[in-house]
Formats: sequence, structure tokens, C-alpha cells
Amino acid sequence: MSTTTIFPVTSSRKKVTSLTLRQKKQHAEPISMLTAYDYPTALIMDQAGMDCILVGDSLGMVVLGYDNTLPVTMDDMLHHCRAVARGAKSALLIGDMPFMSYQASLEDAVRNAGRFLQTGGMDAVKLEGGHERVDAIKAIVAAGIPVMGHIGLTPQSVNQLGGFRPQGKTAPAAKRLLEDAYLLEEAGCFGIVLESVPGRLAQLISQKISIPTIGIGAGVGCDGQVLVTHDLLGLFDRFTPRFVKKYADLHTQMQTAFTEYIADVQGRAFPAPEHTVEMNDGEWEELLKSL
Ligand code: KIV
Repeated sequence: MSTTTIFPVTSSRKKVTSLTLRQKKQHAEPISMLTAYDYPTALIMDQAGMDCILVGDSLGMVVLGYDNTLPVTMDDMLHHCRAVARGAKSALLIGDMPFMSYQASLEDAVRNAGRFLQTGGMDAVKLEGGHERVDAIKAIVAAGIPVMGHIGLTPQSVNQLGGFRPQGKTAPAAKRLLEDAYLLEEAGCFGIVLESVPGRLAQLISQKISIPTIGIGAGVGCDGQVLVTHDLLGLFDRFTPRFVKKYADLHTQMQTAFTEYIADVQGRAFPAPEHTVEMNDGEWEELLKSL
């Protein structure tokens, strides 16, 4: 079955591609990106006009309840990618390659990247790391698959980094990040996520490379911005990074709705007559007579 059969295309907005992002950078038009993991969220985001939707492996923390992203598998990712692809038709869809899907060998990297496009309905993949990922990126790009890089705070290396902490704060560390950005551009990435790095460093990197940078906790000098949607909506209760702006408080709204529902059920206020299927009187009488 072709991917267009699994994910039928209907949308009035023009499809966003990696070329669109490059043009946006050239015209200094900021790029919008958020994460999504399910059909309704992807649908609403797409209708809102989002440029890119990332099916992030943050899935593991904000949807599946793990402490970090390391337990997330290819099967987890593909399951959620397919749901997002059914909802969003115009945004550029990027699937996040999970831990150990690209690190062990180039063959793993290419095969798993391919699965995101072939069975996940994605347009591109993202993977974490700098100079150490150049070979994997080149191999995936050579297979015709667009790759977004990700440097700075790379959550899959949380154990090596000693926690979820900002990166590139010293001059040597900042220089290494700039060099990594050059290498990822040269390897063929169509864009790079810069996570939790100083604003002025992110701006410098954005000026020095020709591909778009998408910042998260990296200031306004990036070519675009991304956030984890559950943080932006106030749905993830465990912690909120300092760089998140909350646009809603869905945790409180959902808690209120669930509490009211329980009270309605307990007080028999729900379901009301308008929520109940009726039977006409004739049928009812006939039933009673037959008993
Ligand atoms: O997994 C994710 O959501 C990400 C973003 C934070 C960029 O990688």
C-alpha cells in the first residue's frame, strides 16, 4: 500500500518542505514548530498554520510517563507518527529518531530513518549529536531522506551531560557547538535544532550557517522556534523549563472538568434527558405488554 493510501492528502494550505524553510530563512521569516504525538493535536496545529510538526521522542516523558527519553522505541515513535500524519497534511512532518535507532551502525541509521518515511508518514527525520553523527547523517541523506540535526542539550545523552543542563556556556564549549553546526550543515542537514544554549551563541550560529536553526531555550536570534506542546499547554506537571512560555493551563482545566464530571455522575446530574436515547411510547407499550 502506498503512503498516500494510508495518509490521504487533503488540505488547502501548500505543503511545507525543507526548501520552504530555507526560503523563510533567506527572507528572515521566523519558522514555527511544535511537537505533536496524536491525531487531534496535529490536525489543530496544521489548521492553525504551523510550519513544522515534530513527533519528538519527548513523547516518552510527556505522554508515556518515563523519566527521560531513553526507553522510547522505534515502534513507539512510528505508532505516534502515523497518528500525526493522519491529522496534518501541510506542515513539514519530522520524526525524531529514538535512542539506539541510529547510534550502533550506519545500516541501522539508514533503515530506521527509512521506516519513518515508509511506514510513519513523516517527511524528514531528526537525530541528536554533532561531529560524532556526521557519518550517519551523510548516509541517511544519501538515501534521499531529509535530516534535521540537534545540538546543545541533547536529551538522549542526559547521562553523559550530567542532567538536563544548558550547554555551550564557556568559550571552548561554544566554539565546539559552532564547529558542530558547520559539520552538520556540510553533512547535508536541512536544519538544526539548538537546545538550551546561550542566546548570543545561537544567534551567532544562525548567522554563520546557511540552513535554518530552530531554537528551544536558545533565544530569539534563531531562525525558528520549537517547544514541547505539553509544556506550552500546561499539561506536563513534573517540571517546566525556564524557557517555556505557557499559553494555556490545560492541567487545571482538565482537572476541573474531571472533578465536575465525577460530581455529576455521583449526583445523577449526568446524563440528562438530552444525553439519553429515547424509545417511542408505542414501542415501549408493546414491550411492556409482551413481558
Ligand atoms: O523530542 C523533542 O520534543 C525534541 C524537541 C525538544 C526539540 O527533540
